Amino acid sequence: MTGLFITLEGPEGAGKSTNREYLAERLRAEGIEVLLTREPGGTPLAERIREVLLTPGEEVMCADTELLLVFAARAQHLAEVIRPALAKGMVVLCDRFTDSTYAYQGGGRGLSLERIAALETFVQGDLRPHLTLVFDLPVEVGLARASARGRLDRFELEGRRFFDAVRSAYLQRAEAEPARYRLVDAAQPLAQVQQSLDALLPQLLELYRG
Ligand SMILES: Nc1ncnc2c1ncn2[C@@H]1O[C@H](COP(=O)(O)OP(=O)(O)O)[C@@H](O)[C@H]1O
Ligand SMILES: [Mg+2]
Repeated sequence: MTGLFITLEGPEGAGKSTNREYLAERLRAEGIEVLLTREPGGTPLAERIREVLLTPGEEVMCADTELLLVFAARAQHLAEVIRPALAKGMVVLCDRFTDSTYAYQGGGRGLSLERIAALETFVQGDLRPHLTLVFDLPVEVGLARASARGRLDRFELEGRRFFDAVRSAYLQRAEAEPARYRLVDAAQPLAQVQQSLDALLPQLLELYRG
């Protein structure tokens, strides 16, 4: 595999989408082919699964169903989009990936990390992101930004405890594997967040060009 697989993680309102665009511009300015995608979703079928996951409904979705749907969408996304793009040598910038599963279904819902790890291996084989940017910020700041955006999805409707657990799970994972993760202070004004991304750019280029 010749490409570079970068994932952007963090809670709602952390600035993942905004900064994914920014990073893409910076990389394209270096003449690099970039593919922007997101999870859950990224293909028509996976986007349909996303709708099921995000739409609040009368029937309570059990946590195992949620976990399996997330990985079902991921299997499709990997087969149709991510693996082919990496094989072509592109940089893939993916808004959320399996760290979200550890944070939301593991931390938030309390599902066993062993079970998530088993599905991760089943669906991904040994494919892992080369680099994961974790946009970290106090829970209330993220929630305020997300609610300013409009109607809340099925996850955004969760309470404070859920998002505290999500945040801790991200921080634990970043701490456990510092080589793969970069923590970004997402509470800063956008211009400063983007300055920290600029500072990361040489490392990204080095990783990509080898
Ligand atoms: N550093 C920042 N400071 C203030 N507002 C921000 C910052 N980053 C993003 N925003 C705003 O917060 C909202 C959520 O950002 P977004 O990129 O959609 O987050 P995410 O994709 O992580 O949910 C948007 O309205 C965006 O303009
Ligand atoms: Mg977003």
